[in-house]
Amino acid sequence: MPDHAELRLGDASYELPVVVGTEQERAIDITNLRSATGHITLDSGYKNTGATTSAITYLDGEAGILRYRGYPIEQLAEKSNFLEVAHLLIYGELPTKEAMDRFSHEISEHTLIHEDMKGFYNSFPTYAHPMGVVASVTTSLSTFYPESLNPHRSEDKINLTIKRLIAKFPTMAAWAFKNSIGHPAVYPKNKLGYVENFLHMMFALPTDDYEIDPVVVNAMDKLLILHADHEQNCSTSTVRLAGSSQANLYASISAGIVALWGPLHGGANQAVIEMLDRIREDGGSIDKWIERAKDKNDPFRLMGFGHRVYKNFDPRAKIIKKACDDLLNKLGMKDPVLDIAKKLEEVALNDPYFVERKLYPNVDFYSGIMYRAMGIPQDMFTVMFALGRLPGWIAQWKEMVANKEPIGRPRQVYIGPNERNYVNIADR
Ligand code: CMC
Repeated sequence: MPDHAELRLGDASYELPVVVGTEQERAIDITNLRSATGHITLDSGYKNTGATTSAITYLDGEAGILRYRGYPIEQLAEKSNFLEVAHLLIYGELPTKEAMDRFSHEISEHTLIHEDMKGFYNSFPTYAHPMGVVASVTTSLSTFYPESLNPHRSEDKINLTIKRLIAKFPTMAAWAFKNSIGHPAVYPKNKLGYVENFLHMMFALPTDDYEIDPVVVNAMDKLLILHADHEQNCSTSTVRLAGSSQANLYASISAGIVALWGPLHGGANQAVIEMLDRIREDGGSIDKWIERAKDKNDPFRLMGFGHRVYKNFDPRAKIIKKACDDLLNKLGMKDPVLDIAKKLEEVALNDPYFVERKLYPNVDFYSGIMYRAMGIPQDMFTVMFALGRLPGWIAQWKEMVANKEPIGRPRQVYIGPNERNYVNIADR
């Protein structure tokens, strides 16, 4: 394989180095392109642009491979738990038993949020979308912990900021839900595990305890692991971009939460359930909706289908489809939209439109059905995605700071008017 590329521009030719990753991924390094040639590259949506080198997650979209720090997602989803995966992503290694106990204990010490933050919750309307609430309260942590403002503090201080965020996020998320239904906030119980604690804060009442079902805990752990990182996607790149200005961790993660919200990214899990419910209410005719998804004059898309990088299958979707069946069976539940989802998948996978464009179910196609079976309300689905993605965002922010990456600042090709003179308003 060549170790450099040659670019011909008119009569001149330029040599561009080729960078090769540990999994033999190849990139043409254009760092000096503009200074050498006076040209920039144009790549709308960054479809071909590598924004960084990274040692966190490896993904091969053609082969359906996803690994965190080298470990296959299938093994982690089967054998690990969410906090262990968080440690792996953020610190680079699976923890020893002692390191894991210490990490869990330290997280459990920071689950409370400042009482003054309750004022924010009281001020948000009950109809507020919880993603807006969670993004706001996440960035507000930087006001309660001003020492977090400097991302270049000692490693210990950065670790404290990280642990606070991981610990407080479930509390902030569960309180957003409680606020939306007008119920009092439920405080964390630190003897509970990470996922158990979250379920307790979501569903316990001052009048009643919530009986934690290990089936639900395992299923949620798996979903969080599957969402924990996905290299340079829209929200993660947003975290790195915001952080590259040396914005603090809390603010950078808040930017990522906002980027995740949209239906083309993390918001797809809510949009999928809404779509499936709509199809069911409409009589369950699959063909009509498949035709609508194919019609370029119709804005309707098959939500939970297609992916920028997976062009064969999304390995996360494969695991979730099975986990979804397992969960519903174990809980003895039936969700009529599960049958609709399966039929939709079958029809789409045999339809030339979807086959030719390599459109497959993605991570969000079945996750909403699982969240619904656990009692998580639809508005909270994307918050669940954010909870899962949190360690990935943190790891990516930490790596970006450690690598001393320059501030992110893309260029553009200007296509507006050429210079023209100002005309007084009376003369226009
Ligand atoms: N339904 C119908 N047509 C689709 C769909 C879909 N879900 N997704 C892509 N297409 C078509 C698209 O119209 C285009 O057709 P053509 O070549 O004829 O113009 C072609 O497939 C390529 O699509 P694209 O929009 O250029 O691809 P992209 O890489 O820019 O977009 C995507 C990827 C995920 C935004 C898109 O597939 C989509 O909108 N999917 C539905 C939303 C969704 O499920 N998002 C969650 C993604 S997974 C969670 C995450 O990590 O974010």
